[in-house]
Amino acid sequence: MTAVVLAAGKGRRMHADKPKALQTLLGEPMLWYVLEALRAMALSQVCTVIGPQAKRPRAEQIQALFPNERFVEQAAQLGTAHALRCAWPEVLQDKAKWCLVVNGDAPLLEAEAMSGFCAAMIRAQIDVGCMTVQLADPLAYGRVIRDQAGRVVGIVEAKDYDPARHGQPTGEVNAGVYLLRVETTGALLALITADNNQQEYYLTDIVGLAVKHGLRVGATSVDSGNAAALMGVNSPAELAAAEEELRRRIVAAWLNKGVLIHFPERACLGPRVELEPGAELFGPCELYGRTFVGTGAVLESHVWIRNSRVGAGSIVRSFSHLEGATLGEGCVVGPFARLRPEAVMENQSRVGNFVEMKKARLGTMAKANHLSYLGDVDVGPGANIGAGTITCNYDGQNKHHTVIGAKAFIGSNTALVAPVRVGENALVGAGSVITKDVPDNTLAVARGRQQCFPKKNDDF
Ligand code: UD1
Ligand code: CA
Repeated sequence: MTAVVLAAGKGRRMHADKPKALQTLLGEPMLWYVLEALRAMALSQVCTVIGPQAKRPRAEQIQALFPNERFVEQAAQLGTAHALRCAWPEVLQDKAKWCLVVNGDAPLLEAEAMSGFCAAMIRAQIDVGCMTVQLADPLAYGRVIRDQAGRVVGIVEAKDYDPARHGQPTGEVNAGVYLLRVETTGALLALITADNNQQEYYLTDIVGLAVKHGLRVGATSVDSGNAAALMGVNSPAELAAAEEELRRRIVAAWLNKGVLIHFPERACLGPRVELEPGAELFGPCELYGRTFVGTGAVLESHVWIRNSRVGAGSIVRSFSHLEGATLGEGCVVGPFARLRPEAVMENQSRVGNFVEMKKARLGTMAKANHLSYLGDVDVGPGANIGAGTITCNYDGQNKHHTVIGAKAFIGSNTALVAPVRVGENALVGAGSVITKDVPDNTLAVARGRQQCFPKKNDDF
């Protein structure tokens, strides 16, 4: 079986310049969810139809995010049938018997539901099969029409629906997932016209055409507690609803695996986040990307973390912002700390309030407890970085590196002008501007010497 994802639509109802496929839910693009679900199925190939050549940067933006995927471009968005036609040469090349077609705007679809649908359709040996959902209100979805015997005879889009002609809608709607027999579908696709109220080539017309040509048509209604959640994301409100549904699912799964989440209704966890049982989180918090939190670690409320690792037993205090950071075990961060990419904290190191780290390593048990900027620096084990220490790593053109040796003590309000090295066990006096290397075991003071003068009464 091969698969095609239809993701070239303009997403006009999102009112955004960004392609709809790239709108994010819990930090991952919508298309990622669909491709992830397909990855979990036994498919020979997947091909995704994306937006037009004229909007090159957009197509490239999508391809850059999914370097291993196969894409075809639909030059003009003439409808879902036209999108599938664009991908059809790839489908034929795959030489598969079946082609699964999925709308790219259905991030809540799960592999299990699709596999069940495909199995049922293959058992029934259909030529054209579609997944349907029973909704209380058919809204703007394609409506499924059945004959008196209950056989599917067509799908009518909401904008073309006429109760006088089609009867009262039953609430059974098209979920935008189809299974097609490759051998018979090509000819049907070629017959679809844009003769409808939207003047679009509707893929949904393939159902009525198949019936007309005496082919086998099937439809299975997926059984879902939250049927509406299976449906497409077309507007900001639908995006928000889908994101909330995903969030709820993910949080519930981690609670069941033994992660302690306080105020779970306020925890946002991305789908690639990994938590160990025994980790403790306080909502509200946001964890995205490839983030790991080990057992016994505590994340206080209001932390924001992406693509970071928080080792076992570490504590991240409130209002800390971590991106691309790596914390060993037993570390303490924040409150109000900012760890930027390549911030590395080795076991039991500490970073306090208003400390920023970027491309910086803090050795085991090293401390930077207050108000510092640590960029392009390697801090040895047990070193103490005083309040207000700044690594001056940028000279306006290039970045330079600072090394601080093990057990060094940097006095408050020190500027370390890189490239510079402070030796092991060295001591830097408060308020120093260090521009030259400080040897091991020495005291460096680099500041104006304090002078005191006799005060005359008439001075002030
Ligand atoms: C579509 C179905 C509708 C179904 C609903 C389920 C059609 C005609 N209608 O409606 O029956 O109930 O999905 O969510 O198929 N796309 C392209 N190229 C195009 C147009 C669309 O790739 O030229 C892509 C879109 O990016 C989107 C998907 O196809 O991912 C569906 O298109 P959309 O415009 O959202 O269709 P709906 O009106 O939601
Ligand atoms: Ca849609």
